[in-house]
Amino acid sequence: MRLPAAAALLIISLSAACAPRTPASGAAPLPGVSGSWPFLGKARVTSGSEAMVVSGSPLASQVGRDILQRGGNAVDAAVAVGFALAVVHPEAGNIGGGGFMIIRPRDGRVQALDYRETAPALASRDMYRAAGEEASVTGHLSAGVPGAVAGLTEAHRRYGKLPLAAVIEPAIRLASDGFVVDEYRSLSIADDSARLVLFPASRATFLPADRPPAEGSTFRQPELAATLEAIRDSGAAGFYRGWVADLIVAEMKRGGGLISREDLASYRAIWRDPVEISYRGYTIYSMPPASSGGVTMGQILNIMEGFGPLPPFGSAALLHWEAEAMRRAFTDRNTYLGDPAFVRNPLDRLLSKEYASELRSQIGARATATPVFRPAPGGGSSTTHYSVIDAEGNSVSCTTTLNNSYGSAVTVTGAGFLLNDEMDDFATSPGEPNMYGLVQGGANAIQPGKRMLSAMTPSIVLDPTKQLYMVVGTPGGPRIITMVYHVISNVIDHRMSLADAVVAPRMHHQALPDSLRVEEGGFLPETLDSLRQRGHGISVRGHWGDVEGIIRTPTGWQGVSDPRRGGGGSGY
Ligand code: DON
Repeated sequence: MRLPAAAALLIISLSAACAPRTPASGAAPLPGVSGSWPFLGKARVTSGSEAMVVSGSPLASQVGRDILQRGGNAVDAAVAVGFALAVVHPEAGNIGGGGFMIIRPRDGRVQALDYRETAPALASRDMYRAAGEEASVTGHLSAGVPGAVAGLTEAHRRYGKLPLAAVIEPAIRLASDGFVVDEYRSLSIADDSARLVLFPASRATFLPADRPPAEGSTFRQPELAATLEAIRDSGAAGFYRGWVADLIVAEMKRGGGLISREDLASYRAIWRDPVEISYRGYTIYSMPPASSGGVTMGQILNIMEGFGPLPPFGSAALLHWEAEAMRRAFTDRNTYLGDPAFVRNPLDRLLSKEYASELRSQIGARATATPVFRPAPGGGSSTTHYSVIDAEGNSVSCTTTLNNSYGSAVTVTGAGFLLNDEMDDFATSPGEPNMYGLVQGGANAIQPGKRMLSAMTPSIVLDPTKQLYMVVGTPGGPRIITMVYHVISNVIDHRMSLADAVVAPRMHHQALPDSLRVEEGGFLPETLDSLRQRGHGISVRGHWGDVEGIIRTPTGWQGVSDPRRGGGGSGY
């Protein structure tokens, strides 16, 4: 079914200038933060009295806002943003990956949707021992069975108001007519061109004339448009059966991958009860396994809550407690958590306030040593988050990923979309670090049909009166968990505006490697010295994340997009 009139309307509004952005974060320095911190005052802030969409791409956010203004609800808008991101934000937006969505309808009955990829039936625990570790990160063998199309169509089936065709149409137009590439996305493709060039369909799609599309040029993806049309016409079956499925299987044969027609036909998204965390009177809903996000962030928050009022932001005392809380939460994550269809996750114990007190009582004045291990490289940027609130107060928090930047780097020939490299999120060699340096055990070992453990932490926060307060999430591998923790704590404990909470420098500890990572140029040198004196190994490494959040204000909603990357919001 085509909707020419509606599509024309959408194209007109897509070509309109970006929604005005006014920085709400003053250039005033944050306490405990270097005066030369480059992101001060740079958060991209959008205000709306009724509704708001923020995502890693300003164009995708406009698609979401247009769907809302045409009478769609937050889920319609989220699904439209999800498909649009697959076109306009190819480093991470996807139909060849997977994700997690927290949906809070205005009646307050929160649901979590798990559309994480699964290991193909032919996968086995030690498959990368023979194939080599690089095979879990780049190429056909690194791909799990994609979940994104099953997830987006299932969310729409259960909650959507507009026809599926109406919410996919903007993505189809952006793919067939093309969109104007901005600086961020041109540089992003350039950064990963060495991997993309390895696979002919990726080279043809993303490096036309053997170069990344230049800033300001129009980038068209006709094969991707045809795949999206198949989904528009046949729903999930248009992807998991029929010619698109045939092309995925042919691509697997071409490159020695494992995904079969049966793997595709049997893939299902799963509805789950969200993790519910209470923190200083606020309520936070987040993702349960197969993501570790909600549980691990819940453990960190529970440990921190018991310290009482926290020391000031940026102080060594605060960073020390946070590092020790994170260390313990990640140790449990890496030991116990995995796909609940395969392992028992002791959620009641891990999330109890009593257990948090037990862990807190182990934290003293000095860092706790953890075993030495072989360090591993950091990960890419192939995850993206979007947050949506509609005029009726329905809200969606969604994080979706291909894992590494541009996933496996393999584009399905003839179908125009990238496949994920999510297999590396398994403990591909239990006890050895993965791409993110995470050392995990048997609970997350590879098994056929199993979902690999994630760190994605899409979250929705209610205030102490149980009113919708904030929607938040980010990409960033294991640092996702600590970033969402930071934003929530910065707002609740340190009374920051959401803009400042997003701009503020970040620290991270994930048990192994045993080092406290901090963003470069943020915390004061004397703070880092004080942490070293407490026994912490400090690792100063770049800048990370792309928080896309919405917060309630006295006049409506404020969308905040992280200045570290190329996102933006759109509201009304
Ligand atoms: O699911 C996960 O935890 C990872 N695949 C997320 C990867 C990620 O965030 C990379 N982007 N920065």
